[in-house]
Amino acid sequence: MLAKTAFGLLSHFVGPRGEVSGFTQQIQKADLRDWFAAWHLERACFGPDAWGLLELGLALLTPGIRLKAVVEEQLVGLVIAERNVWTNEGLIATLAVHPDFRRQGLGRRLLAEAEARLPTPRIRLTVRASNAAAIALYERAGYRRAGHAPRYYAHGEDGVVMEKLRRP
Ligand SMILES: CC(C)(COP(=O)(O)OP(=O)(O)OC[C@H]1O[C@@H](n2cnc3c(N)ncnc32)[C@H](O)[C@@H]1OP(=O)(O)O)[C@@H](O)C(=O)NCCC(=O)NCCS
Repeated sequence: MLAKTAFGLLSHFVGPRGEVSGFTQQIQKADLRDWFAAWHLERACFGPDAWGLLELGLALLTPGIRLKAVVEEQLVGLVIAERNVWTNEGLIATLAVHPDFRRQGLGRRLLAEAEARLPTPRIRLTVRASNAAAIALYERAGYRRAGHAPRYYAHGEDGVVMEKLRRP
């Protein structure tokens, strides 16, 4: 509710098509203080696939890459990424930008900042097969389809596994 109110207030400052021209977009470390805002963002972005409150709290409490996009002191985007020390692979666990702030480069920036903090030759992620926006973003960032995850998502939809290979 708090985050919704914040987004509502913020909407007074954005243009009719959601431009944030003139406002600074910053990428900052996220932590437990961002718990509720991040949870509201997850729900606004993922619906039935959203992380639960506890799951998200745990992620924000534990080490790993947790970055938020901030516009006018409000959290409007989030990326959570991990490094698997056993396989030396990076994982993009979640990436989300609030609907009012999309198509302004925030998703691309969050992803790039997470990648820059992942010292792994391979980064993987799974995305809903019908999620054309995210697949387009990942393909543009150099990810390629690398597998299939049958009935991975709520309501039985398949996932597409994508990966990016980088020079060490
Ligand atoms: C996917 C998501 C993070 C993209 O965030 P965003 O801030 O709008 O993305 P960007 O503005 O950085 O877009 C970067 C590029 O991705 C592609 N892209 C992003 N949204 C797109 C859309 N709706 N349709 C087609 N291409 C799209 C474009 O190539 C875009 O570059 P361009 O704007 O110069 O054409 C956002 O739509 C979102 O939060 N979706 C819901 C949650 C989600 O699906 N997360 C990913 C799950 S794995």
